Amino acid sequence: MPRNTRSAATRRTAARAATALALVVATGGGMAASAVGDPTALRPARPAVDKGTEQRISALLAKMTLPEKLQQLQLLSDGQITEVDAKAGVGSVFSLVDPVKINAIQHVAVEQSRLHIPILFAYDTIHGYRTVFPVPLGAASSFDPAVAKADATFGARESAAVGIKQAYSPMLDVSRDPRWGRIVEGGGEDPFLNAAMGVARVQGAQGTDYSQPDKVASSIKHFVAYGQPEGGRDYNTTDMSIARLRNVYLPPFKAAVEAGAATVMCSFNAINGNPGCGDAQTETQILKNEWGFDGFVESDYTALDEMRACPPVQPDTGPCGHGVVADGPGAAARALNSGTDSEMVSTNIRDYGARLVANGRVPIGRVDDAVRRILRVKFRAGLFEHPYVDVSKAESAQLLPDAVAAARTAGSRSMVLLKNDKGLLPLDPARKTAVIGPLADDQHDMLGPWWGQGQDTDAVSVLTGIKAQSPAATYAQACPIADVDPPAATPLDVCGSTAGFDAAVATAQAADQVVLVLGESRGMTGEAESRSDISLPGKQQELIDRVKATGKPFVVVLMNGRPLTLPDVAASSPAILEAWFPGVQAGNSVADVLFGKVNPGGKLPVSFPQNVGQVPIYYAHEPTGRPCDVTQKYDSRYRDLTTCDPLYAFGYGLSYTTFDISDLEVSSPTVATTGKVTVTVDVRNTGARTGDEVVQLYLHDPVASLTQPVRRLRGFERVTLAPGQSKKVSFTLGPQDFGYYDNAGTFVVEPGRIDLFAGNSSQATLASSVTLR
Ligand code: BGC
Repeated sequence: MPRNTRSAATRRTAARAATALALVVATGGGMAASAVGDPTALRPARPAVDKGTEQRISALLAKMTLPEKLQQLQLLSDGQITEVDAKAGVGSVFSLVDPVKINAIQHVAVEQSRLHIPILFAYDTIHGYRTVFPVPLGAASSFDPAVAKADATFGARESAAVGIKQAYSPMLDVSRDPRWGRIVEGGGEDPFLNAAMGVARVQGAQGTDYSQPDKVASSIKHFVAYGQPEGGRDYNTTDMSIARLRNVYLPPFKAAVEAGAATVMCSFNAINGNPGCGDAQTETQILKNEWGFDGFVESDYTALDEMRACPPVQPDTGPCGHGVVADGPGAAARALNSGTDSEMVSTNIRDYGARLVANGRVPIGRVDDAVRRILRVKFRAGLFEHPYVDVSKAESAQLLPDAVAAARTAGSRSMVLLKNDKGLLPLDPARKTAVIGPLADDQHDMLGPWWGQGQDTDAVSVLTGIKAQSPAATYAQACPIADVDPPAATPLDVCGSTAGFDAAVATAQAADQVVLVLGESRGMTGEAESRSDISLPGKQQELIDRVKATGKPFVVVLMNGRPLTLPDVAASSPAILEAWFPGVQAGNSVADVLFGKVNPGGKLPVSFPQNVGQVPIYYAHEPTGRPCDVTQKYDSRYRDLTTCDPLYAFGYGLSYTTFDISDLEVSSPTVATTGKVTVTVDVRNTGARTGDEVVQLYLHDPVASLTQPVRRLRGFERVTLAPGQSKKVSFTLGPQDFGYYDNAGTFVVEPGRIDLFAGNSSQATLASSVTLR
């Protein structure tokens, strides 16, 4: 029995059991399989343990000396790898992208190392390798797992073609802090959406068998809770309850492990005092023991060195910081004993492992287990059978028409229409369009951070894309936005000067309509790129105001990697399109939406605050004893804000048509806590154009032993409907949706009422309920 059958009389007496955990494991990671519009999307694909492979691993392991085992646990960068390492049997190499060099190193490993074990080559293929797709936060806005899957599929094909067999992707860090620059790399603030997108990415990259020549092993990262650093500052401390860790930050990882993710990367930051790569609770107890993960965990970049106290002793070089160990041997012991299997860049395990085994600080069984896990992934990847890449085919696999077409579609499906007063959009391509702004004719920033091997020259700027559909379009840059690091105190190069504004205004005046392309440079987001002020950088608002004063109709197209605070932009602009960094086809994707070839249907995967002081702000917040009422003194409010709401809520996004969502029905008014219900809702296109709506289902548990989020997303489906057409959308909800983890780490499903809300944003009002008994 998955739960305690001793049903409690009231919701306040939790019905729990130690075995309740098994329920969630068995039901596939807390996601309703039919709830994301693709019934195959969440099908578990973890490879079954293969006896033949396990025997081969055992046979190989039996031949290995301890130094050879420790070499397997070493992961070196492209800048570090030498033939000496390859000959010694090093385990993995990352960021090497030249197939000739990859083969050369692989030949040394396979032919000259004593045991002929191939190297696993890895790369950060995050949103495309050469064909760059929208940044992951953009793809999450599509609310369409097929977008993420296509990105990972083509990324894997292009990566594998040069000899890469592992991708450090997807990033599954839920983040509720837009100051954090890496929010761009994930699926936003919600665990359910992150899980759906993450699973799709794992499936796209790995397929059902990542030994296939166009597939790679996925490494899901950063394990865990890296997305919630204090103050939004990258790498900073995270401290949270077990309930929150289990309910919000772990579910995307659990879902991806269930979907067969081959490898995991542990995180830099400390969680409740334990650095991510030295945390036995998450790495060993939860990931490996509870979830049954049989792949390997690699550390993030120098994360082992960073566990040392400063100044470090033995060796006294390299990064240090967390202070949970004094020296390199301590770091190696802490990491290995916690469950880290492979060390990236720093070399503590390789250097001190033998000594640690000899003096009993690390059991040899742990070293063997780590080696076994790495060999398992190498066998599953087919590396022993096919260690080399066909160099002659590497280049011809890049930037192929099907990938480029998919990137264009992904770009437009990822865009979110935030505002469209009086149906200003779509624009008429026959009218004269002025394309203005620092990002208007830019082929660099639109690729976003982690652009892989993407090249600016491959990219279609917004101006080029618009000209292809509206040839008379004109252009003015107005001001540059540069990617300068470290930024100057008064940066002139981040739209800091108005010198070009007069020319821009003249260009606007000579046109019928204006497209203003504004936002962040790609260097302002991504790793180590936190911002304390998340408004539109530089004098871009002044540019909006100048263009507005011309009286010409205009739309603001935003390219950025995080939610921005946009109250002034929203107050001054009649239309706003959130385009994120759309990738290599950015200009075509933007033009498709602006001119109405594509009707925008994306929704925000993360709340847009009014003011950075509201951060962290997220729709699934817990209620307080004094809910926000800005008119009341002793309420949970800001005295200098007139609302506690975000400017744009999670799940929000407009279309060029309108939809009506109605008739929320539940298959049964009551259900056992172990049972399932089907929830259906009708969606109708009530406007005059074909368009997409994302039907969203949220639930709330009003009386629970632990305070519960005011609502939680448990289902979504993006549907395309012709004018007048309607569709019934159904979702299956079960215990994994109704229940939650408590602070003992136990999954509980409590009897009582569950409120349901359906609609087209997290502010949906259509309501019903089901009672659990
Ligand atoms: C990042 C990882 C990345 C690794 C290798 C680190 O700095 O945190 O996400 O996979 O570098 O490039």
